Amino acid sequence: MNSRNPGVPATPRAQRPPAPLPRDELAAVLEPGGSGCMLPAAAYTNDDVLAWEREQFFDRAWVCAGRSGDLAAAGARRAVRVGNDRALLVRGDDGTLRAFYNVCRHRGHELMACGGPAVTRGAIHCPYHAWTYDLAGDLTATPRFNAPPSFDRTDHGLVPMRVEEWRGFAMVNPSGDAPALSVYLGAFDELLAPWEPERLVVAASHEYVLQANWKLPIENYQECYHCAAIHPELCVVSPPDSGDNYTLPGMWVGGAMALADHAQTMSLDGQSRGVVLPGLSAEQARTVLYVGVFPNLLLSAHPDYVMTHRIEPVSPTETWVECQWLFDPAAISREGFDPAYAVDFWDITNRQDWDACEGVQRGVSSRGYRPGPFGLQEDAVQQFVHLVARSYLAGDLVA
Ligand code: FES
Ligand code: FE
Repeated sequence: MNSRNPGVPATPRAQRPPAPLPRDELAAVLEPGGSGCMLPAAAYTNDDVLAWEREQFFDRAWVCAGRSGDLAAAGARRAVRVGNDRALLVRGDDGTLRAFYNVCRHRGHELMACGGPAVTRGAIHCPYHAWTYDLAGDLTATPRFNAPPSFDRTDHGLVPMRVEEWRGFAMVNPSGDAPALSVYLGAFDELLAPWEPERLVVAASHEYVLQANWKLPIENYQECYHCAAIHPELCVVSPPDSGDNYTLPGMWVGGAMALADHAQTMSLDGQSRGVVLPGLSAEQARTVLYVGVFPNLLLSAHPDYVMTHRIEPVSPTETWVECQWLFDPAAISREGFDPAYAVDFWDITNRQDWDACEGVQRGVSSRGYRPGPFGLQEDAVQQFVHLVARSYLAGDLVA
């Protein structure tokens, strides 16, 4: 956690109303002693529930807004949708990554379109009337503006958003009242440290749109019970019943799985064309870590690359996913390096998973849906669903 937007201290946190879902149905999800069950149908289909989740989960959590490592140069910036809002991430002259609400202080035009590539410029220009801000968000020019006598430029700087850089990721908290990021992540930072994702570089990036609620790809990610049925390629390189899940502090759920004896990594032939990350122990170099940081980052740490899924709800039944593959610079700089060995494997696997998620979405949208039980091997799905259900009931994030 090496950078903090200096303009944005944490604000006191208040409890909010619970989610618009029947309490008894949520209580059934959390029933002690049982194997628990899936969330009620409305959690996957209802506009009001998604509106609540955007406000309570995506605005009030630490949300991953993508890599910050690709905003290395002073003036580099990117606009990102986060929950109900839009963030403008900007690298300052002083090396600090800042986030601002992506809104001009004149008449509210967005400063940069979301979803486009990063650009680098010396100042922030509004495209509407060309008001100009410096990289720290201070208003520096108002061309041709016939200012009223009371106008004071220093009153009209960009509104800062809380942001921290964590291991090469930009983590934002639009509401400003999430716990400190170190507390939020709990034990995960130390668990992930040997992979050193802050050193790694994005070599490939895919976008997907799923016709499924945003929680379904996360639930799917948290178990490999389905692997034998839908992932023949994966089962060759990683036994689907291997590994264990963690029960450690923090707003995350996940575990590790072993590689098959013949496999160096997760690829179609099990071979790596990269380099083993130098911080890993011999045991870590034989495993893959699969962790979901609530609410929107899935992080899969392999011996030779890290893959991320960044998840954003579009509607209750549609989800955007950005999948990125990060490699050691030493691998990328090798002549002829091609990340396809990892990308092709996971693109096939991703699409198999998305088909499954869309099948579940069609099922939970049916009047015939009844929330079903979790098997013991689906304990991490249960952990995730319990985190969601507890937070629905509490009107706050509850790990
Ligand atoms: Fe930005 Fe007018 S709205 S300069
Ligand atoms: Fe899968």
